[in-house]
Amino acid sequence: MKEKLVIFDTTLRDGEQSPGASMTQEEKIRIARQLEKMKVDVIEAGFPAASPGDFSSVNAIAGLIKDSIVCGLARANPDDVGKAGEALKKSDSSRIHTFIATSPIHMKSKLRMSSDQVVEHAVAAVTQARQYTDDVEFSPEDAGRSEFDFLCHIIEKVINAGANTINIPDTVGYNLPGQFGSLIQRLIEAIPNSDKVIFSVHCHNDLGLAVANSLSAVMAGARQVECTINGLGERAGNASLEEIVMAVRTRQDEFNCDTGIDTTQIVPASRLVSNITGFPVQPNKAVVGANAFAHEAGIHQDGVIKARETYEIMSAEDVGWGSNRMVLGKHSGRHAFVDRLKDLGFEFSSDDEMNDAFRRFKKIADSKHEIFDDDLQALVTETGNRAENDHFTLKHLKTSSETGTIPSSRVVIEIDDKEVASEQSGNGAVDATFKAIEDVLSTKSTLQLFSVNSVTGGTDAQGEVSVRLEKNGEIYNGHGTDLDIVIASARAYINAANKIYSQEARIHPQRVSGI
Ligand code: KIV
Ligand code: ZN
Repeated sequence: MKEKLVIFDTTLRDGEQSPGASMTQEEKIRIARQLEKMKVDVIEAGFPAASPGDFSSVNAIAGLIKDSIVCGLARANPDDVGKAGEALKKSDSSRIHTFIATSPIHMKSKLRMSSDQVVEHAVAAVTQARQYTDDVEFSPEDAGRSEFDFLCHIIEKVINAGANTINIPDTVGYNLPGQFGSLIQRLIEAIPNSDKVIFSVHCHNDLGLAVANSLSAVMAGARQVECTINGLGERAGNASLEEIVMAVRTRQDEFNCDTGIDTTQIVPASRLVSNITGFPVQPNKAVVGANAFAHEAGIHQDGVIKARETYEIMSAEDVGWGSNRMVLGKHSGRHAFVDRLKDLGFEFSSDDEMNDAFRRFKKIADSKHEIFDDDLQALVTETGNRAENDHFTLKHLKTSSETGTIPSSRVVIEIDDKEVASEQSGNGAVDATFKAIEDVLSTKSTLQLFSVNSVTGGTDAQGEVSVRLEKNGEIYNGHGTDLDIVIASARAYINAANKIYSQEARIHPQRVSGI
């Protein structure tokens, strides 16, 4: 009988710390539902003390998710732990994850605390957290650069105070696989009460080693891995869930543990997260990249046709490729539309929102005929975004481009019941459109990213556009989808501009000072 490897997903917390990946509450709920469907053991839903928005998202997810543990992050101080406990109140199985830095550089320069003070805060935070839940996790932040004896000391103390999961983060992605695995093994051997807890790891990908380090730790005895969908996360990201899960599943000859993940939900989860954050998945990304199961060389194709195992170590179906089935068409009714979206984890918050989405669905179905899950995901991502930010609305767009002429674009935007128009020329239809929108809205922001993705295959596919605007150091992401990519681009820009207007940017944990 294999041991259980606990999968702790932090897409909604560490993943959201990726610059530009902030999500609305409704988007976080959709991702949480998909994670639950995938049978993720623990969902880190956010950092309740970071902002009222984070608090509210954790609170909402805690009330909705039944089959996974819902976790909230808290620095080792009474206010944070109290807020996490409060936010998780509605959950039947909640976890508080509290952390404090233990490396010499963090204690001296960031916390300005002695090591004794750090231990005191850690023990107090774990003790307080146990008043809210029996499930408490402690992380010595920057453990990968902490002194071994001090790590052993603080971990022994927090276990005595009631922590039941000890998470070892390589916060800055500095460790190497052999060394990190040996750190986990040495900690388990040296800490006298280590048998009372599960050891976990949380690796960042600064040197591209997050997955390798996590797997090495699992071989050394770690029984929880913290990871994110598509490897999203702070800086270069976290260990990617899909790679960890499939490495352990594929190499059962080497691992004496396995996860309980329903792997067929991996590709849908990857698409959902990419769709919501606007971060495309690179084609050659392991497991979930578009080319992960595509064979180009004739010799490979020939081999795979004769026996799949000649060049494939996993099957595409096992990780959910092919799940993007054609689901609806132009004759589908409102009921089928709402039901399918429910299956995809999306519920409308009002009849108006549902009617608006259904109207847009009918419009797309009229010209596209076959509507896939990805079309629906893209449609509701935009609906969800628009419902919260509708100060500016695109009313009309006309572009003109012709060989040998300078493209131009005329936009009409509704602002406070008034229509304002502008016409501009530019280096292409999209450039001209953005100039015209900027002329009307005056966001005074800088365009940092513009990306276009085709939602499904075929020339009749919807174009999905992501726009990232930067203003005063804050990042605002906008998404737009349409069969016409210039219209999708205009929608994406206006969506980001609406976020600037309503100041919806989330405060990220690393920007909150103090412990
Ligand atoms: O990277 C890190 O150290 C973290 C902790 C909060 C676990 O994200
Ligand atoms: Zn992290």
